[in-house]
Amino acid sequence: MAERTVLITGCSSGFGLGIALALAARGWTVLAGVRDPARAPAELASARLLPLDLTDAAQIDAVAAGIERLDCLINNAGYALNGPLASYSAAQMQQQMQVNVLGPALLTQQLQPALAAARGRVINVSSLAGELGLPMNSLYCASKFALEGLSESLRHELRPHGVQVALVEPGGFRTRFAANMVWGERPLAVAGPDALQLAAYRELQAKMLAGPGNDPAAVVDAVVRLTELARMPLRTRVGSDARSARRLKRWLPEGAFAALIGALFRRRLASRRSRP
Ligand SMILES: NC(=O)c1ccc[n+]([C@@H]2O[C@H](COP(=O)([O-])OP(=O)(O)OC[C@H]3O[C@@H](n4cnc5c(N)ncnc54)[C@H](OP(=O)(O)O)[C@@H]3O)[C@@H](O)[C@H]2O)c1
Repeated sequence: MAERTVLITGCSSGFGLGIALALAARGWTVLAGVRDPARAPAELASARLLPLDLTDAAQIDAVAAGIERLDCLINNAGYALNGPLASYSAAQMQQQMQVNVLGPALLTQQLQPALAAARGRVINVSSLAGELGLPMNSLYCASKFALEGLSESLRHELRPHGVQVALVEPGGFRTRFAANMVWGERPLAVAGPDALQLAAYRELQAKMLAGPGNDPAAVVDAVVRLTELARMPLRTRVGSDARSARRLKRWLPEGAFAALIGALFRRRLASRRSRP
C-alpha cells in the first residue's frame, strides 16, 4: 500500500497518543502534534514530533507550511473548562474556544490544499458534550457544539475537494482528561446557587473518577476504523453513555429530554443541600 501520512493533534497523552501508536503500527507515517516535544512520551519515538500549540497561529502556519500532501488530519487536542458560567474569566472562555474550535478550524484551513492533494480525510474528536448541553460545562459544551457545526458544514464544503469529514463523540473515558480539566477562576458568592451547584458537581465528578473508568482503546479503535472505511459516516459515538444519551435525545420530545437532564442534576443538588 502507498505510504499514508496522518497529522494528529494532542499526542502527549490519552486518545491522541493511542491513535498515534495504533496508526504507526499499521504503517502510517505519523506527524504527532505536541505542545512540548521535550516532554513527549518515549513511545512516540516512531512518530515525527511537531511542536503545535493550538493557541499559537504562527505554529499552526509553520506546521501546515511543511506539509504538501496529507491523507488524514485528526483534530484531537482539547480540554474542558468546568464550573458555572459565573466562574469563568474572559481569558478562560477565549482559550476554551481557541483550543477546541478555532485552532482546529485554522489548522484545517491551512492544511486544506495538502488534504485535497491526497483526497484525504478530517476526523474531529468531539464529545457526548457536542450533542448535549450539560450544567457546569457550558463553555466546553459550546466549544464542542461549535466543532460539530464546523464539521457538518465542512463535510459538504470539502466534498468537492475530495476531502471527507467526520466526527467522533466519546462518552467518558480514562485518559488525562480529568486531570487536565480547568476550573473557573473567578470567585463565586459563598453558599449562593452557583457555589452549591459547583460543590454538587465536584462531588459527582469525584465519585465518577474513583471508579476504574472506561478503556480509551475503544475510542482509538473507532478512529482507526474510520481511517480504513471507504466512506466515513458523519458521526461515530463511542461508549454506552454517548450512545444512550443520543438514543434518549432522539426518541424523547425535546422538553422531556431537557427535563430529564435537569432532574438528574437537581437530584444531586438536593442530596447535597440536605447535608449540613
Ligand atoms: N476522555 C474523555 O472522557 C473525553 C470524552 C469526550 C471527549 N474527549 C475529547 O477527546 C480529546 C482528547 O482528550 P483526552 O481524553 O485524550 O485527554 P488528554 O489525555 O488530556 O489529552 C488532551 C491532549 O490535548 C492537548 N492539548 C491541550 N491543550 C492544548 C493546546 N493548547 N494546544 C495543543 N494541544 C493541547 C494535551 O497536550 P498537553 O499534554 O500539552 O496538555 C493532550 O495531548 C479532547 O478533544 C477531549 O475534549 C475526551
